[in-house]
Amino acid sequence: MNKVSFFALILGFALLATACKSGINSPPQNTSKTIENLLEIRYKMVLDYPVDSMSMPRSMTIKTNDIKKVPSRDWTSGFFAGNLWQLYRLTGNTEYKKQAEKWTPFSKKESVNRNSHDVGFKVYCAYGEALKVENKQEYKNVIIKGAETLCTRFDAKVGAIRSWDFNKEIWDYPVIIDNMMNLELLFEASKLSGNKKYQDIAIKHANTTLKNQFRQDNSCYHVIDYDPNSGAVRKKTTLQGYNDDSVWARGQGWAVYGFTMSYRYTKDPAYLKQAEATAQFFMTDKNLPEDGIPYWDFRDPAIPNSARDVSAATVMASALYELYGYTKNNRYLAFADQIMASLHSGKYILDPKINAPFILDHSTGNWPKHDEIDEPIIYADYYFLEALLRRK
Ligand code: GLY
Repeated sequence: MNKVSFFALILGFALLATACKSGINSPPQNTSKTIENLLEIRYKMVLDYPVDSMSMPRSMTIKTNDIKKVPSRDWTSGFFAGNLWQLYRLTGNTEYKKQAEKWTPFSKKESVNRNSHDVGFKVYCAYGEALKVENKQEYKNVIIKGAETLCTRFDAKVGAIRSWDFNKEIWDYPVIIDNMMNLELLFEASKLSGNKKYQDIAIKHANTTLKNQFRQDNSCYHVIDYDPNSGAVRKKTTLQGYNDDSVWARGQGWAVYGFTMSYRYTKDPAYLKQAEATAQFFMTDKNLPEDGIPYWDFRDPAIPNSARDVSAATVMASALYELYGYTKNNRYLAFADQIMASLHSGKYILDPKINAPFILDHSTGNWPKHDEIDEPIIYADYYFLEALLRRK
């Protein structure tokens, strides 16, 4: 897609959202020229960010002008390379590809790091995006190696991949909803290698999650702690939500995305049903703001004086575009378009005066830890760019 049609698409989001307005306010009226300029400035700052193997940009505290930079072992490390690959696909500008080729290898060593389930995020968001652009055996090898590593964290008794190794005094075997996202690495590795082991483990993990992670109303818990001796559920709890019974917004996004993606590889109707049910919860909850960008937790008692989480919105928009593809349910398409229109209204785009390699503002990383509240965060941009590509 050339630049002109790309920005025409953006303008289209705003118009479409206005046209299919159903209880969600249309965004403030900006001219398409203003939005075009804003995004061009932001994309250029992503391109110009200096290459450094130990400094993947993760988030930013605007007040202090402090960019949080992380090494490859951080769960967010693969997103920046992924953003550059996606910007290349969106704009056709080969400068993004050149930068992506420099950043991607920094994630390679994570394909053998067994310390957390995040190998999926770290490896696949960089190498999976690289593979969409270039059919290189090197990229495939890293993905297969990462899948092999992720499988070492699977326990047959529990029927799930262990998420975290910390807090051993609190949890015996924690599995978080975010972990659904790592299954894409396994499904793809089976396709690339012909080895069904990775897919079998992904299916077992998805089935265990389906059984235990959801509530009656189809919202999901953040953390399920299992007894590894019996495989029984010990506790349904949270780390990043307001409390155990609250509804952490990004977790709902991971659930819808994760089960839609699992349906892509398996065609299991139970996965599609859960994705639709959780999407329905998200889209219709009384605490969802009119512009479709959720508060960080749907049950924060401080609502409406609470922080938003743009990353939850971008994960959901990207998931809903894929869900629409399988169901042809126009509600998913319209809702994703409404989110994208709100994000394109200017209000959520990072101030062009701020020199940082981020596109969107107003995400919330970890509210209980008072960490990354109402800030630009790298994964919000990743799923935003993915949603733009999927809409196309
Ligand atoms: N652990 C991934 C997240 O914060 O959503």
